[in-house]
Amino acid sequence: MKAIVQTGYGLPDGVELRELPTPPIEDHQVLVRVRASSVNPVEWYRVAGPVFARVSNGVFAPKKPALGADLAGRVEVVGKNVAELKPGDEVFGTSGASWAEYAPAREVRVVRKPPEISFEEAAAAPIAALTALQGLRDRARVEPGQKVLINGASGGVGTYAVQIAKAFGADVTAVCSTRNVELVRSLGADRVVDYTREDFTRRSERHDAMLDIAGSRPMRQFARVLKRDATVVLVGGPMNARLGPLPHLAATRAAAAARSQSVEFFLAKITPEDLAVMAGLLASGKVKSVIDRRYELTRVREALSYFGEGHARGKVVISV
Ligand SMILES: NC(=O)c1ccc[n+]([C@@H]2O[C@H](COP(=O)([O-])OP(=O)(O)OC[C@H]3O[C@@H](n4cnc5c(N)ncnc54)[C@H](OP(=O)(O)O)[C@@H]3O)[C@@H](O)[C@H]2O)c1
Repeated sequence: MKAIVQTGYGLPDGVELRELPTPPIEDHQVLVRVRASSVNPVEWYRVAGPVFARVSNGVFAPKKPALGADLAGRVEVVGKNVAELKPGDEVFGTSGASWAEYAPAREVRVVRKPPEISFEEAAAAPIAALTALQGLRDRARVEPGQKVLINGASGGVGTYAVQIAKAFGADVTAVCSTRNVELVRSLGADRVVDYTREDFTRRSERHDAMLDIAGSRPMRQFARVLKRDATVVLVGGPMNARLGPLPHLAATRAAAAARSQSVEFFLAKITPEDLAVMAGLLASGKVKSVIDRRYELTRVREALSYFGEGHARGKVVISV
């Protein structure tokens, strides 16, 4: 089968397309014929190789060559302890090696794909949509009528966050650049702030919660646009090939200690329950995957380079 292999650190040369044997599966896994995947910061950091990525994957050379988290495809083979899925089922979720024609996935990391959506629309969702869902529901605990501010509304996580916040009945103010204003408005945002023309931290409305996806501003500047008991959910920070989002996370943690607003840091968890929630939202049309660009497996280097520019409009999908 064709698969992307990480051969070293650095973009774009750290990945290659190779011919590999079809991977074996363990008893609790299914083998998926992958039809689509997508790009998330996790792959970009793995290949770019900042310090924290090398600590987990080898200082001088990557120990784990497989890449790709999100996946959608058809189950080919099931392990003997797999209870719910059978060959032929169309699924979506995550694997550790989905940038390939065949990928092993734990049964608890995939659910059935709704027939209403394409493989690409399904593969766009797992990490980005579950990050938005868990950030809004579990961390910000958003309730109907609350005012939610979303900074970084036009990328992978942001386009899901705007729609999920609206599905929860929130009043959404979304921050993005000029070329994405209409897109973000079309996703349901009640107000869109163009950060190239207006400083959102100087607006007069006060919000109950903020999802900071872009990490473009220091925490101390948010206070003006937040209610006293507001929650700030820190999702990410600027892409930085040397230190990743760590400087922004550290500065926010320090600033948060001195404030009444609470700051939540979190890493999304891929659970079958939340994949099923997203399957329902996608099937009903309340949430749509916004796909910016599609790249074949042969063009993964270009996909990573484009993603690394930091201005994707929705998701960058890998078609397999
Ligand atoms: N905590 C978790 O579990 C988790 C999971 C996934 C991702 N993340 C983090 O979330 C962040 C975003 O991930 P993603 O997949 O959504 O990335 P993405 O698809 O690359 O989105 C980046 C978006 O950021 C926007 N942006 C850039 N500069 C901005 C600014 N100054 N103000 C407002 N928006 C700005 C861009 O919009 P414009 O083109 O309009 O500038 C672009 O749409 C990353 O830091 C990532 O590490 C965290």
